[in-house]
Amino acid sequence: MPSIAHDYVICRVLNTSRAIHCDIIILLMKKKKLIIGNWKMNPDSKSEAVREFKKIKTAAGKMQNVQTVIAAPFVYLGLLSKNVSGHRCVLGAQDMFYEESGSYTGEVSASQLKSLGVNYVLLGHSERRALGETDKEVSQKLRVAIKHAMNPVLCIGELVRDRKGGHYKYVRDQVVGSLEGIPASALPRIVIAYEPVWAISSSKNAQVATPEDAEEMIIFIQKVLSEHYKLKRTPKMTFVYGGSSNSTNAEALLSKSVIGGLLPGRASLDSIEFIKMLKIANNI
Ligand code: PGA
Repeated sequence: MPSIAHDYVICRVLNTSRAIHCDIIILLMKKKKLIIGNWKMNPDSKSEAVREFKKIKTAAGKMQNVQTVIAAPFVYLGLLSKNVSGHRCVLGAQDMFYEESGSYTGEVSASQLKSLGVNYVLLGHSERRALGETDKEVSQKLRVAIKHAMNPVLCIGELVRDRKGGHYKYVRDQVVGSLEGIPASALPRIVIAYEPVWAISSSKNAQVATPEDAEEMIIFIQKVLSEHYKLKRTPKMTFVYGGSSNSTNAEALLSKSVIGGLLPGRASLDSIEFIKMLKIANNI
């Protein structure tokens, strides 16, 4: 069962038409929007991290149509985990290691994250790939995340777009390479974040992808998955968009049905701005 971003509403219908009281339980699946704040290497102090997280958590706690995740730096996760209550606003990590235990100085394991109640983990973010992370390493990390029943958020995105459409091949290769060894049965656990590098706010001349561009690439990724796994239908997974998303463009992006959420970086650092995004997602 997909455990992420879903609410199951149980409706009880009393059928008296044949004088038989027949209870029918209908499970209606209502999909929440998934909004993941990527704090990157921010903020500078633990007091600021706690203060901002508390503000976000209070607002997010009132939003029944949104699953909020704050992907905070490792050093704050333990402290912030003490401030998590309920499930509407939870913590995520920005990376983790592909070995499960052992002598790996500076690395963090899946079990360590889970022991703090951290289930979401960003994998293959372009800023980590730029530091040398390969598709193979991403796929190894994905395997471990799935083994530990975590919710990995696999980041995919081309560096640039060109007129000849080379970005499609780039995205296809990255999707297939990052999912190597991952069975189709694991797909519902994985969130795919389409994050074109040219749109990420720290890139030179960054500019948000149009909702149509993001939609088109997500549909392309779905097609790549269907072909790669020889599926008859589009896989049931959540796709989010990241790259200069903010409260100004959130509504247009989220109005595309294939965009199940957002992964804001810069906009998640200001709790007022981030909460505006949550409200927009909640009302869509
Ligand atoms: P941005 O970052 O919203 O600041 O562009 C998104 C990301 O890198 O995940």
